[in-house]
Amino acid sequence: MFATLTPPEPDKIFRLTGAFAADPRPDKVDLLVGLYRDAEGRTPVMAAVKDAERRILETQDTKAYLGFAGDQGFVDGMRDLLLGEVVPAARVAGIATVGGTSALRQVLEMVRVVTPDARVWISDPSWPIHAGMAGHLGFDCTSYRYLDRATNGLDRDGMIEDLRMAKAGDVIVLHGCCHNPSGADLSLTDWEEVAAICLQTGAIPLIDVAYQGFGAGLAEDMAGPRLLAQRLPTVLLAASCSKNFGLYRDRAGAAFAITQDGAPRDAAQGHLVAMNRNSFSFPPDHGARIVDVILHDATLRQAWEAELTAMRATILRNRRALADAMRAETGSDRFGALAAHQGMFSLIGATPQQVDTLREDHAVYVVGDGRMNVAGLSPEAIPRVARALAVVMG
Ligand code: LMR
Repeated sequence: MFATLTPPEPDKIFRLTGAFAADPRPDKVDLLVGLYRDAEGRTPVMAAVKDAERRILETQDTKAYLGFAGDQGFVDGMRDLLLGEVVPAARVAGIATVGGTSALRQVLEMVRVVTPDARVWISDPSWPIHAGMAGHLGFDCTSYRYLDRATNGLDRDGMIEDLRMAKAGDVIVLHGCCHNPSGADLSLTDWEEVAAICLQTGAIPLIDVAYQGFGAGLAEDMAGPRLLAQRLPTVLLAASCSKNFGLYRDRAGAAFAITQDGAPRDAAQGHLVAMNRNSFSFPPDHGARIVDVILHDATLRQAWEAELTAMRATILRNRRALADAMRAETGSDRFGALAAHQGMFSLIGATPQQVDTLREDHAVYVVGDGRMNVAGLSPEAIPRVARALAVVMG
């Protein structure tokens, strides 16, 4: 059966993690996968998560099945965390999923049922799974201009011009905050423009929210998506708890369709539930339950928000320190965008050859497209990384 089959290309982001592990150089720096690391290079279990796990261990008395939509407390808690008070709960259909990746999958599967001819618009660049998954599902994918590679900031005019060509029913994939891989985000004015385009064209936004709280703050990071939810008849949301709760391997996520209340909302809910049933029946409970416990306990929630705030501050410090070190190394502000970007990632503008040289000659590992996980830097590594970037990229 498999004799004529060739394996698919290895995943772009995880491709080099094995090489990093096998690299004997003691000063190697891993800036590959989106993992938050503390000053000691660890990705710790958050204290609020540990407390919630203890509480679950002590009180949970059954592991009997829940519904196909997962834990309702988790789904409601995530809805409120993402959307605040801006839309009535009666407009929102939602399910728990297997991390944010399967939230995207379930939402795209639902789009395929309703509008199989929809074109899926994906930013250039984007998280590789967006195009990979939409293509795998048979959608016609088109990229829209997003990053101005001369400044490493947003190509606003290019984005607007391209998105104006979307047709009714097309899906526009947007990053809620902390754009992966570029770090360049939309301003509120840009979000307003996107809302106007969706209203004019009838295109549907699918907002991927994987880093809420890593940019400017929990509410601040959702200002754009909330604006769309308020102004548009239909918005799709895929959310991940991997980063902001540090639950990477526990796979906690949620998918939402914000639509008209009544029959449209009920239809969306029914389809989302059916997607889960046909994929894995029941979403995993452990990570979702932790999030549910944290979001609904005032003390734990406060502790979690404080930890998240500290993580955000560390990332911001890394950004500023690296931008300063690059200014000192190069005598120019060529890498100044590093400090202005939001979230874990920045594209540093390295060619594939420069990425190879960084790894081979300097033991600095970044993804092949030049994406750097800024949240993986430590204070000790920053001067070394800055020197390597300056040597390799001139
Ligand atoms: C990343 O982009 O590094 C993370 O979101 C991990 C992943 O699944 O790609």
